[in-house]
Amino acid sequence: QQTLYFSRHGESEFNVLGKIGGDAPLSPRGRMYAQSLAKHIQALNLPSLQVWTSTLQRTKATSAHINAPKQHLPELDEIYSGDCENLTYEELQERFPRELARRDHEKLKYRYPQGESYLDVMRRVVPVLNQLECESNVLTISHQAVLRCILAYFLDTPIEEVPYIHVPLHTIIKITLQGYNYNMETVKMPI
Ligand code: F6P
Repeated sequence: QQTLYFSRHGESEFNVLGKIGGDAPLSPRGRMYAQSLAKHIQALNLPSLQVWTSTLQRTKATSAHINAPKQHLPELDEIYSGDCENLTYEELQERFPRELARRDHEKLKYRYPQGESYLDVMRRVVPVLNQLECESNVLTISHQAVLRCILAYFLDTPIEEVPYIHVPLHTIIKITLQGYNYNMETVKMPI
């Protein structure tokens, strides 16, 4: 039996503003989540706990209070939205209405100008999935789109549904794998 934990980073200043991409710091609420995530995980006393984050400051800061070996992996960075980085969806609608319409139409295949698609992200996380397959007690702290791709792999989600999987903030997702069976539990932190 294998147990894997997943979380999005705590709320970032960009989440508050509704901006996508970028490398914003955590908001005050996001910093509170980092504290309660550490408390929760540390209380589990998991043998050989490891923490894997993206290279972006919001996931690193979310892991800050956890006492365990850490790796910061570029494969776990959020979907790169190229020319659309750092904009709100409203600004996107004003500046790139056709792009947004195309994305709404085929979110899985849609690639941001100079950026990535969900299919690109699915491909780039494969090395991490292969490593996770052989691990237990890893807490992966990443981002909405990337976690959709990773969870879909473990939960056998049909590919068309991947860009719409619900991965809320401030929630710890625990997946237990045994052979071909899996079980998923979520713990929503009261913040
Ligand atoms: O809004 C937070 C965020 O992580 C953005 O950085 C990213 O572009 C987005 O979520 C991915 O979600 P969606 O594909 O639904 O826009």
